[in-house]
Amino acid sequence: MQLPNLQEAKKRTKSKTEIKSYNINNKYQNIIKNKKYYVKTYGCQMNEHDSEVIKAILEQMGYEASIDMENADIIILNTCSIRENAHNKVYGMLGRIKYLKQTKKDLIVGLTGCMSQEEVVTNEIKDKYKWIDFVLGTHKLEQLSEIVYQSLSKKELKIEAPSCEGIVLEGLPVIRESKYKAYVNIMYGCDKFCTYCIVPYTRGKQRSRSKEHIINEVKDLVKQGYKEVTLLGQNVNAYGKDLDIDYTMSNLLEDVAKTNIERIRFVTSHPWDFTMDMIDVIAKYDNIMPYIHLPIQSGNTKILRQMGRRYTKEEYLELFNKIKEKVKNVSITTDIIVGFPNETEEQFQDTLDIVNTCKFDLAYTFIYSPRQGTPAAKIIDKVPLEIKEQRLARLNELVNKYAKESNDRYKDKIVKVLVEQESEKDKNLLMGYTDTNKLVNLKGPKEIIGKIVNVKITDTKTWSLDGEYIE
Ligand code: 5AD
Ligand code: SF4
Repeated sequence: MQLPNLQEAKKRTKSKTEIKSYNINNKYQNIIKNKKYYVKTYGCQMNEHDSEVIKAILEQMGYEASIDMENADIIILNTCSIRENAHNKVYGMLGRIKYLKQTKKDLIVGLTGCMSQEEVVTNEIKDKYKWIDFVLGTHKLEQLSEIVYQSLSKKELKIEAPSCEGIVLEGLPVIRESKYKAYVNIMYGCDKFCTYCIVPYTRGKQRSRSKEHIINEVKDLVKQGYKEVTLLGQNVNAYGKDLDIDYTMSNLLEDVAKTNIERIRFVTSHPWDFTMDMIDVIAKYDNIMPYIHLPIQSGNTKILRQMGRRYTKEEYLELFNKIKEKVKNVSITTDIIVGFPNETEEQFQDTLDIVNTCKFDLAYTFIYSPRQGTPAAKIIDKVPLEIKEQRLARLNELVNKYAKESNDRYKDKIVKVLVEQESEKDKNLLMGYTDTNKLVNLKGPKEIIGKIVNVKITDTKTWSLDGEYIE
């Protein structure tokens, strides 16, 4: 039993990151016959990618995929901690699973991901959810096969989720969701410690993967026919800062571009580490997509300081304008938090102002959610939830107006779309994304799935574009 601990989770030392090779123990390989798994993913792309690894490890053990939870022999919830509602969804799902477990005694239930690294969560699991088989933390993924194996015979709750700075695991197996688009981790963890954010505590210190491992993974994906990679990290612009080499995110982007993969994306960018070199590299290479997710969080400098963001409103604007000026046809999206503790109406107005100035292509907006253990959660907040909800509604109205205006500019234009699959809304349509990451629902033959094709935009909506394939 190894429980997370907040004091340990906060620690950052200068020790060098250990790089370890993953290998499944032969003892656990192909030991499962005629059994199915179901992995439910919450949260960000990092978590989606972790689920691709979890599925691959389960398949190495011999499990097969189940399309629904009810028919699975093992259910894993890969959880997220970012806001209270992410927690609530998981607890709600556990209620449903408890019922399933009563009718299916051999069902194995495990919790992975960020929630498993929270002291408050594991304490609650220990007290109220003893029927769960295991909780496996983000630093312990390599022990998945072992803990599943133990759960086959030992019906008691096991928690392996120590808080630590973390290592880098190479050689992990992966079953990718898509045959055309792939996630590639370039770094793990985060050292920024924004005052509202739980991630540095759940994911450990910043650990960059070596450029060789990253480039080889991308080259391999090119060989397999992948068209697009998304380079993943909590804070990708800080790539390399923890390595003893003179090699930065702009160098990495350039080297990835030279692999000739057709499309490169990267998330998430922190304005603090976004260099002019990076902008130049993005502008220079056609295969680096003109799409940048650049979270601003607030348009008020005092709130930004309280958030620990380390840039002012003016500095953000300067960076934003530089990117717009240098990267042709760029689309910029953002994240915004309303209702940070004691945010005043005037401070909120500054956020509306910056949205009016930047006219973001899209903005993901959230009401501040106190995360236990973070500095902001200690502030006594006098702003009622009702006011925060009103601010969110006002912000969304503005954000949506600009999203629609941005999409309207695509009307009648011909754009390149990587067609991914049938549209979920309408089986007669296909869906894909433009280079600027706009979702397009289009008419076209199934043969264009997996290809980058020309599409004429026929109509525009707030969240998507409609179009038709042209030869
Ligand atoms: N409350 C609300 N939103 C949050 N985010 C991160 N932490 C919190 C929190 N405690 C938002 C930020 C971040 C996005 C991934 O989630 O906007 O960029
Ligand atoms: Fe959620 Fe953050 Fe963890 Fe991703 S890294 S799963 S967003 S808490």
